[in-house]
Amino acid sequence: MLDYSPIVDKIVREAKQQANKGEVASYIPELSCVDSNKFGISILDKNGKGFHAGDSGEQFSIQSISKVLSLAMAYSLAGEELWKRVDVEPSGDPFNHLSLLEMENGIPRNPLINAGAIVICDILVSNLKNPKSDFLSYVQNIANDPSITYDDKVAESEKRTGFRNYAAAYLIKSFGNLENDVETVLDFYFHSCSLSMSCEQLTKVFYIFMNRGNCLKNKNYLNLSQVKRINAIMLTCGFYDEAGEFAFEVGLPGKSGVGGGIVALLPNQFCVATWSPGLNKKGNSKLGMLALEKLTTETGLSIF
Ligand code: DON
Repeated sequence: MLDYSPIVDKIVREAKQQANKGEVASYIPELSCVDSNKFGISILDKNGKGFHAGDSGEQFSIQSISKVLSLAMAYSLAGEELWKRVDVEPSGDPFNHLSLLEMENGIPRNPLINAGAIVICDILVSNLKNPKSDFLSYVQNIANDPSITYDDKVAESEKRTGFRNYAAAYLIKSFGNLENDVETVLDFYFHSCSLSMSCEQLTKVFYIFMNRGNCLKNKNYLNLSQVKRINAIMLTCGFYDEAGEFAFEVGLPGKSGVGGGIVALLPNQFCVATWSPGLNKKGNSKLGMLALEKLTTETGLSIF
């Protein structure tokens, strides 16, 4: 296996020199307090060896990155029935866009835009006894790390300002594609998005998507077909209207969040997570995208 230490150190050195770091998200007020100078990167290779640099041990709000984890849990519980309620096509639209939902009768384009993740959360609310604690345990177990928690302040902050998510949920409900009431589903959705993790923790959780559904402790969470499909959805939909650009520049399946995190993976090789809170115009971490482009270009390692 490769020694990734020189490349992660170089990436952090270069990131610190970048003058334009992008804009920290402010539509969720609690996120706007984060220091835009933070930058961390972690790589976890298939053998379980970690390479860390910068602020890689500091926790941040993973936001939309959680959509991959709720999808994984819902897919395990609901099986192929899930695809009757959410499609698998890239939307080409921003993550919080609503017009396609109206035109396509309340079936979201994919599970990684907000509307799709809300339907996935509805499936989890229907299938779990205690949705919030059961989902948290699922994530903690995958990472073998009980210190992962929700950030209630972030969840409450989004609940107060998440008007577009309320609009999406009511629209989905009007088409009969939401079984539970809007408040319950969104309370769960906002909490799942509020999960706090560091880059190091993110690579441990996403290890299952890199390692054929098996976690670091070799427990199986997803079958091969499920892993293939979730990775395909990350590649085509993980960066919304910038998914093409991410595939073009980086060439890995991955997922971003408005907290400035990005996680990506090369099947059977490594998981990588970056954190830089400043976002570009499409809502993806500006320096995180540059860092991952550097990583795959300089190592020659991508799915292509
Ligand atoms: O629903 C929202 O708007 C946020 N909780 C998550 C959005 C997000 O992270 C988009 N990602 N880049």
